[in-house]
Amino acid sequence: MEENRCLVCHPAVCCVERDYEIILLCDRNALASVTVSGVTYTDNNNGVMRTDTPVHKIRVPGEALDAAGQYTVNLAPLADHCNYYPKPEPTQTYTYAFCPVPKDPDLPVQMYVLADTHGDGNTPARAATAIPGNQLLILNGDIGDSADTEDMITTMHRLASAVTGGTRPVIYARGNHDTRGHRAERLTDYVPTRDGTTFYSFRQGPVWGVVLDAGEDKPDASIEYGGVCDFPGFRQAQTAYLSSLIANRENEYEAEGIRYRIAICHMPFLDSRHAFSKTTPEIYAQWVSLLNRIGIQVLLCGHNHCLDVLSPAVYDGVEKPAFPTLLCATMNAHPARGQDTWIPGQYTGTCVVCRDGVITHTFTNQDGETVTI
Ligand SMILES: [Fe+2]
Repeated sequence: MEENRCLVCHPAVCCVERDYEIILLCDRNALASVTVSGVTYTDNNNGVMRTDTPVHKIRVPGEALDAAGQYTVNLAPLADHCNYYPKPEPTQTYTYAFCPVPKDPDLPVQMYVLADTHGDGNTPARAATAIPGNQLLILNGDIGDSADTEDMITTMHRLASAVTGGTRPVIYARGNHDTRGHRAERLTDYVPTRDGTTFYSFRQGPVWGVVLDAGEDKPDASIEYGGVCDFPGFRQAQTAYLSSLIANRENEYEAEGIRYRIAICHMPFLDSRHAFSKTTPEIYAQWVSLLNRIGIQVLLCGHNHCLDVLSPAVYDGVEKPAFPTLLCATMNAHPARGQDTWIPGQYTGTCVVCRDGVITHTFTNQDGETVTI
């Protein structure tokens, strides 16, 4: 490790489509790049290296990083991005091993789901590291308590760092609290996106997935929001995106080697017992239908601050989901089914295993104990 290092924590290597977005947090302005197998990818804006930012996102080809099994982060602090003779400091380099999910569809895949961490970068990380064998980290929304401050937003990066050490892939999904506050409109500077959107497909080994973003949990006209929300069009764009995935299915979920299909969305938009599914029910009905057509095997959610497995019966739409919905996280080490409590220093998340074509789950707490509901 470098002395006077400007890298704040280990990188978050985030899956987007077939690529990775490597996200770097710095404590000062710097030129940033990542080198994979001798090829260097820079953080630039139309050819101009970005420096006036504490966070850098660098997209690298998935095949290249998977094959290399390691990458090197290059950071050259630059205090003054002046118009003549800028003088970067010597480049700091940080090399990480990287372990993607193996491509062999006959091998099991184990992933861990955190959601509703609400600014806690410690206890949930204990849950995700208390059991061995997790190959993929899923951060499923409300990771900060809001997007009001950089400290809240960077809960995502601190959790990814603590759990993966920059060596394993991360899937990120935005939650409704992540849409709130002074920096919410700039959240996408800090998190992975596909052409700027927080919804995208991804592939890791034999697992194909789609990340959806239901936005806020109340109607946009709710007095709580004061007019800062406009989510229906954003949700409709995801309807169109799901349709485009179906149209391109041979390169998406029907691609060679895909054996498992999952969906990830912070909010369980199909739980009709709750008002939040009534915001744009016609759009959510389309999502259910399209996810059924894709053949999704499980939908991973958070939001309700409880553990549960939702049956199709909780959905009052015409076309029932053909997949179960898991509510994956609660701030309670020994919760009852559906119990929403918030106990400081306690957390239960979900370990999801894909094996022999079947997807199963186990709830485990911050001490690694299996939680039965
Ligand atoms: Fe939450």
